[in-house]
Amino acid sequence: MSQVTELKSHPLVSHNLAILRSKDTDSQRFREVAKRLSSLVLVSATESLNTVEQELETPLIRTSEQVLAADIWLIPVLRAGLAMVEAGLDLVPDAHVGFVGLFRNEETLLPNHYYKNLPDFSKSANNCFLLDPMLATGGSACAAIALLKDHGATDIRLLTLISAPEGIKEVFAKHSDVVIFTASVDEYLNDLGYIVPGLGDAGDRFFGI
Ligand code: PRP
Ligand code: URA
Repeated sequence: MSQVTELKSHPLVSHNLAILRSKDTDSQRFREVAKRLSSLVLVSATESLNTVEQELETPLIRTSEQVLAADIWLIPVLRAGLAMVEAGLDLVPDAHVGFVGLFRNEETLLPNHYYKNLPDFSKSANNCFLLDPMLATGGSACAAIALLKDHGATDIRLLTLISAPEGIKEVFAKHSDVVIFTASVDEYLNDLGYIVPGLGDAGDRFFGI
């Protein structure tokens, strides 16, 4: 399947990306803009969700509307994925939230897994939205996806703000069933594993470290 949706051609997306990328953007503004961009990515990523018809009564007539067919799970990859959760809960207030904790070893660039709090997804129909602003080598995303699959997840969307081509390739090589939604596919990874042009370290900028 291997499907990636890049949203940068939308003027609101590129406008907010410019603010997020700038080294002059402080943490407070970074948080606001990360949330706004996350909302835009989430709207795109929820477009293909299945719905069912629900009957209801307006003050005027009996009618029906399409409502979400399955539970939605937001799964931020700690730490930086927390930057995208509030936008998700604003759009889908009854979403559930699970957690995966990973950090990259700065020398090997390999992910270290330190935490998870996930349900048994196989018990009911659900959609998993894996949230991480940065997809660099793809190591963290692949490790997180593998964990979700170990817990029975079958319908996984990966939502990012900035993705490197290298990371997209790695995710599709290991998990071709996952679909990716990203504000921007950037140019390349540098020798230190940072996305270029990128925005630097997303977690440090979001948390003001
Ligand atoms: C960042 C980012 C991703 C990962 C991407 O997290 O939020 O999880 O790097 O890199 P990769 O695609 O090469 O694996 P980091 O490891 O810096 O941890 P943090 O969220 O705690 O800052
Ligand atoms: N993680 C980040 O936060 N930024 C990058 O550019 C790469 C990985």
